[in-house]
Amino acid sequence: KKVLFIASECVPFIKTGGLADVVGSLPKCFDKKYFDVRVVLPKYMCMKEEYKSRLEYITHFYMDLGWRSQYVGVLGMNYEGIQYYFIDNEFYFAGPRPYGNIYEDIEKFAFFSKAALSILPDVDFRPDIIHCHDWQTGLVPVFLKDQFSDNEFYRGIKSVMTIHNLKFQGVWDVKTVRNITGLPAYYFTPDKLEAYGDANYLKGGLVYADAITTVSATYAEEIKTPFYGEHLDGLLNARSNDLRGIVNGIDYDEYNPETDAFITKNYNIKNFRKEKVKNKQALQEELGLEKDDKKFMIGVVSRLTDQKGFDLIAYMMDELCQQDVQLVVLGTGEERYENMFRHFAWKYPGKVSANIFYSEAMSHKIYASCDAFLMPSLFEPCGLSQLMSLRYGTLPIVRETGGLKDTVIPYNEYDGTGTGFSFTNYNAHEMFYTIKYAMSVYYDKRREWNKIIDRAMAADFSWKASAAKYEEMYNWLAPGK
Ligand code: ADP
Ligand code: GLC
Repeated sequence: KKVLFIASECVPFIKTGGLADVVGSLPKCFDKKYFDVRVVLPKYMCMKEEYKSRLEYITHFYMDLGWRSQYVGVLGMNYEGIQYYFIDNEFYFAGPRPYGNIYEDIEKFAFFSKAALSILPDVDFRPDIIHCHDWQTGLVPVFLKDQFSDNEFYRGIKSVMTIHNLKFQGVWDVKTVRNITGLPAYYFTPDKLEAYGDANYLKGGLVYADAITTVSATYAEEIKTPFYGEHLDGLLNARSNDLRGIVNGIDYDEYNPETDAFITKNYNIKNFRKEKVKNKQALQEELGLEKDDKKFMIGVVSRLTDQKGFDLIAYMMDELCQQDVQLVVLGTGEERYENMFRHFAWKYPGKVSANIFYSEAMSHKIYASCDAFLMPSLFEPCGLSQLMSLRYGTLPIVRETGGLKDTVIPYNEYDGTGTGFSFTNYNAHEMFYTIKYAMSVYYDKRREWNKIIDRAMAADFSWKASAAKYEEMYNWLAPGK
């Protein structure tokens, strides 16, 4: 069976968040005997040089988009057994980041979506299923139904739309979007692309895809309610027969404390009691924190946005810093949160370390060094950071929402179960109480704490089970063959 992923980011080429981790790791996990999975990406100028220089020219042509004719270059690379295609157009993909202003992105991803479909005859790949990710590729199922449907090559191709984050939908005014895409007025009604008077790319994908998935079972339920539904809960309810939640995995080769080259001291489930702490010592040294390897160290690696619960953290920061803790933050995002952490790093030197930048190496060091990982999200489609923490024996403290609820089992001191700590309501004091509870287990019942680590490190969040669920869905969509 042939499957084509179309997405706007992918590890190791370009990454802004968990979407890139998923698109970069999932295709490798399908059974190669039965599935030929390939990936289409934009060729961003800002993509890592070491990969850009390895791209090979395949072909180019001109494609009609709205009233214009646009250059479409196609480059290719085979990387770790997967065939990647990169769409080249310097007008759209020259920016310093993958995403820019929404009005730029609206046109950029209309172009990308149509181009990704247009290259297929030229690269001689006719997928049975096209798997789209997030709003940037929402127009793919729409174009597939509209402009490609009378072409024999495309007839019968099924499409899947995966929601990684319902918050971002790609919304712009109907007139401009009609102009850009050349889609007829027929599509811009409330039962199709239109939502609240505007054109909505993700909605288009959700209406026209043959199946919809999202990245955890709980989020799949949550988005059918008004609180999490981002105004599309009605549509998601209407399509609930075609909507399923499949939890994300992580790349177990890349995130492996036993072989990780970024961390100071490698360790595993057998020797973490002695070895893990050496990472903490090294990180304290590196970041100028007080050198005390007994100190309860909490890590945060995140986009600094409201989604991730930073208003709760901001509210409790002073009180948290009165506790016997160290806090290590790595992240970029909203300025008020960046400055908030800078402020507390200044106010509590040796105790709080604010690293307001992006660094893969530093993220691995934090996953390996800390005792606990804090992630009190307001909503979380899946979340990968808590899975990475579990794998490194760094116990997650999370709010019970979306994928956090599905992947972190709260510690139960009575029956000795659980892999982390969690709280229910989006409430700063509930979060604070949960942190204090975790801290008390760490300081007063270290043997219990280590048993939680045993269970956390033994939990399996590799892609194995979830890749099988995607395979099952592909087989259901395109039986036989
Ligand atoms: P989201 O996709 O919503 O940002 P996820 O938990 O799914 O959240 O994925 C976040 C990914 O981005 C993880 O791989 C995490 O390690 C990484 N990440 C986030 N911020 C940084 C940063 N400042 N430096 C390095 N990696 C980061
Ligand atoms: C989104 C979500 C995150 C999820 C990731 C990958 O960025 O915010 O929860 O893990 O996509 O699916």
